[in-house]
Amino acid sequence: MASEECSPAQGEKLYSGRLVGATDPVLEALNSSIEVDQRLSEVDVQSSIAYAKALEKAGILSKSDLEKILSGLEKILEEISKGELVIVKTDEDIHTTVERRLKELIGDVAGKLNTGRSRNDQVVNDLRLLLKSSITLLVTLVQQLTRTLIERAATEIEIIIPGFTHLQKAQPIRLSQLLLSHAVALTRDSERLLEVKKRTNVLTLGSGAIAGNPLGLDRELLRKELDLGAISINSIDAVGDRDFVVELLSASSLIMIHLSRLAEDLLLASTKELGLISLPDSLCTGSSLMPQKKNPDSLEIIRSKTGLVIGRTVQLLVVLKALPSAYSKDLQEDKEPVLDVVDTVSAVLQLANVVISSITINKEAIEKSLTPELLATDLANLLVRKGVPFRQAHTLVGKAIQLAESKGLTLTQLSSEELKSISPLLSSEISQLPSPQSSVELNTSIGGTAKSSVLTQIETLKEILKKQKE
Ligand code: ARG
Repeated sequence: MASEECSPAQGEKLYSGRLVGATDPVLEALNSSIEVDQRLSEVDVQSSIAYAKALEKAGILSKSDLEKILSGLEKILEEISKGELVIVKTDEDIHTTVERRLKELIGDVAGKLNTGRSRNDQVVNDLRLLLKSSITLLVTLVQQLTRTLIERAATEIEIIIPGFTHLQKAQPIRLSQLLLSHAVALTRDSERLLEVKKRTNVLTLGSGAIAGNPLGLDRELLRKELDLGAISINSIDAVGDRDFVVELLSASSLIMIHLSRLAEDLLLASTKELGLISLPDSLCTGSSLMPQKKNPDSLEIIRSKTGLVIGRTVQLLVVLKALPSAYSKDLQEDKEPVLDVVDTVSAVLQLANVVISSITINKEAIEKSLTPELLATDLANLLVRKGVPFRQAHTLVGKAIQLAESKGLTLTQLSSEELKSISPLLSSEISQLPSPQSSVELNTSIGGTAKSSVLTQIETLKEILKKQKE
């Protein structure tokens, strides 16, 4: 057997023909990606199984070569599933591990498997296969959280809370309206992930190092064997493209931004000062110094992990910037950020799901927080119905609020004389002021916080989730 057909023995490099002597240990340590890419082991072997079949069809492997190679690869898959595939320190990456192990199992015929194949087309194909299933997992978790928010919104539909803008009390809203606002954002996230999945679901194997494959390899056979949706169009683009990784990182960043805003809403609502909701003790920690503390760590962790995910996204963008075409070793830096992000986002989504199902609603505190200034806009609208132009009505109510505040009163505590001093209409219309419960019912347009509109939102969201599943 020609020596270049031989696979490496333990500690031997794949390129030991060209380079003389050992790699500098400092480079060796930095260059090795095995710590991270051993997570590709299963998909790497699956790709090799498909590749071996394509090589046999192209006449490069005999039937008996193929049988030997397939039996070796099956054995490696078995070792992986039992956690028994031994990684040797000198394995540069997972492709080296599999190649070395195959040679140990079946001898020199293992060396035929890499005919026409480069680690450049192999590694990106592996990553596509792995991320395809990661995306499926993330979609499931995002949809699960969306469903939990919808369920909670349906259960709490009668609860009216103060709505805040600029973190200042604005208008009464249904708690469901707020919960559903987060659910709507999440449906865009699952939609986006499904889009990213389409562009991830592409076969790059068969692109070689840069130029393509000279063996008449049937790439359609590879695509079918690996259950991928399309075949890469250009070999240079195929080995150098990491757009799909960036897209997954970006979609993950948006998920985390949405979750951090949800967490922030809940953090504010759960302060002792507002006290609208409470977290169970199981989602909090205490202080080692202050005995009274119950800290909402679960929400803070959701918020802080957002920084990690955005950082990982920027990390890869910076690696990619101004890289020349085709493969450079820089591209090895794609896996650590994206695998970290997939792990983090899936854990955080699960945590958010537990939070939403287990927060308690403090009805008394909510009742107290529904102060009359939340109805100032309703009062202005009453004046509008009496023919006052809105700008003028806005000024009159503003003056009444100002007067009440200067006297340490609320809007509804002003006497009719005091209101008359601003406008006689004000003093007559204040008696028509709706309760917070009736105020929300005025917002019946699509997307509003009236009960009928909220119920429609719930139906719309369920419909969207159903369609995404199909
Ligand atoms: N470990 C490498 C990576 O993750 C595999 C590809 C290396 N290719 C090469 N020609 N050295 O990107």
